[in-house]
Amino acid sequence: MYQISSTSSHSSERKKMKLKWESISTLHQNVFLIKLVSAILITALSFRFFFFRFGQFSPVQVSVNGNSDPLISPPSVISDNDDLIPADIVVEKCDLFTGKWIKDPLGPIYTNDSCGIVVDAHQNCITNGRPDSGFLYWKWKPNDCSLPRFDPQKFLQLMRNKSWAFIGDSISRNHVESLLCMLSTVEKPVEVYHDENYRSKRWLFRSHNLTVSNIWSPFLVEAAIFEDSNGVSSAAVQLHLDRLDKTWTDLFPSLDYAIISSGEWFLKTAVYHENASLVGCHGCPESSNMTDLGFDYAYNTSLRHVMNFAARSNTKGMIFFRTSIPDHFENGEWHNGGNCKKSEPVSEEEVEMKVLNKILRDVEISQFERVVMEMGQEMGNFKLLDFARMLLTRPDGHPGAYREFRPFDKDKNAKVQNDCLHWCLPGPIDYLNDVILEIVANGRIGK
Ligand SMILES: *[C@@H]1O[C@H](CO)[C@@H](O)[C@H](O)[C@H]1NC(C)=O
Ligand SMILES: *[C@@H]1O[C@H](CO)[C@@H](O)[C@H](O)[C@H]1NC(C)=O
Ligand SMILES: *[C@@H]1O[C@H](CO)[C@@H](O)[C@H](O)[C@H]1NC(C)=O
Ligand SMILES: *[C@@H]1O[C@H](CO)[C@@H](O)[C@H](O)[C@H]1NC(C)=O
Ligand SMILES: *[C@@H]1O[C@H](CO)[C@@H](O)[C@H](O)[C@H]1NC(C)=O
Ligand SMILES: *[C@@H]1O[C@H](CO)[C@@H](O)[C@H](O)[C@H]1NC(C)=O
Repeated sequence: MYQISSTSSHSSERKKMKLKWESISTLHQNVFLIKLVSAILITALSFRFFFFRFGQFSPVQVSVNGNSDPLISPPSVISDNDDLIPADIVVEKCDLFTGKWIKDPLGPIYTNDSCGIVVDAHQNCITNGRPDSGFLYWKWKPNDCSLPRFDPQKFLQLMRNKSWAFIGDSISRNHVESLLCMLSTVEKPVEVYHDENYRSKRWLFRSHNLTVSNIWSPFLVEAAIFEDSNGVSSAAVQLHLDRLDKTWTDLFPSLDYAIISSGEWFLKTAVYHENASLVGCHGCPESSNMTDLGFDYAYNTSLRHVMNFAARSNTKGMIFFRTSIPDHFENGEWHNGGNCKKSEPVSEEEVEMKVLNKILRDVEISQFERVVMEMGQEMGNFKLLDFARMLLTRPDGHPGAYREFRPFDKDKNAKVQNDCLHWCLPGPIDYLNDVILEIVANGRIGK
């Protein structure tokens, strides 16, 4: 079902990427692993349940009381402090995406109490009763430079009269909520729009005239999804791989900044169309005579169109493609008791990216590199945000069992659904915004 042979010709291209992780082409030489991949892909078919359920939005108003006292006192350990590097020393070349997490007694700039906006209750870990707080006291430190702590005032001033959009799935929503929480320490945003299902939303920071949108478009291409509100599907997803979803492309001319991303939704069972005709499927029913093209074919083809569009857009600001972010389910997957109980970051040596995450990221990076090559000097202001390795080392940053409110109050041994994919707020995903501010404020980008 997974089209193994089609990727082997790219092994030389991939080696150039200097990925730390074993490249996928190496895997192809190993028959045992191929079987493993197939087994994982079968598992992945049932992912649709999970992603739909997390994709649903159940708004919960977090009370606004302006109290920013730290909820929990920081651990007594003092960091190996990078702030000794004077901020005015300009480091010419610095890859902001390569570094490590170091202890930070300051902790997050907001708390579960101070974020006065709609935060998905499933990511409100502290309110939900997550008992450990050590995961809040780490900050991202690029190897070759210091990264200033996110300054919400600076961001708001810089973005006066600007328009931002976060386009993608529930991880995009997680990310936009992180940014809104950070900015709300200075000014509370007002929700000015939502679509009928509360999936796409827009907020305004009135005194700075900054607009921030979250656009729900999990596939980025035109998709017909036949699922009821419980995530039970009555038919496979129909995807038009060569037609971009107008939900976001229509908005594009009005944007100054956008962060586009996708990923896991492509693992779903789906029927693929190109040029208005049926070309194949993924997870095809046994009785079907369609060609199983594999989700990597669909993702690759869709991203080719997405990247071509984004690279040609002539925005005044900047357009980013964010690579998909690895999950940290251990001892199983989401549906069979997988969990994530770590309470500290791990080193890159201790963790390996899962095969599915590698396949998605490989497609993303190779499509981005292709469009850079093809466009050359013609390339618009289009950049890659590759946080995959940064977040790979944070298995401690997920809600786990604390995606629900006080899950063990009634029964210490209750069996609950864990979330090892989305991120607690506050949590590690906040540091993406430190990196992004550094890029937009100082024009600094990796490599
Ligand atoms: C923040 O978390 C604390 C501790 O769990 C809780 O008592 C408080 O109600 C939470 N605040 C909000 C606004 O959820
Ligand atoms: C807000 O910003 C937009 C541009 O994004 C501009 O057209 C508009 O005039 C601004 N409004 C105010 C009140 O400054
Ligand atoms: C924002 O827009 C308003 C109204 O168009 C204008 O007066 C103001 O100078 C703009 N500010 C910036 C920083 O562009
Ligand atoms: C798309 O289909 C039309 C008619 O069905 C055909 O003329 C055209 O060549 C096709 N284009 C591509 C790119 O396959
Ligand atoms: C699949 O089979 C149906 C009849 O069972 C036929 O009409 C159709 O053309 C076939 N499709 C392909 C792609 O072979
Ligand atoms: C992805 O598309 C490119 C063309 O843009 C092609 O060269 C490559 O073989 C495709 N890779 C996969 C995994 O389908």
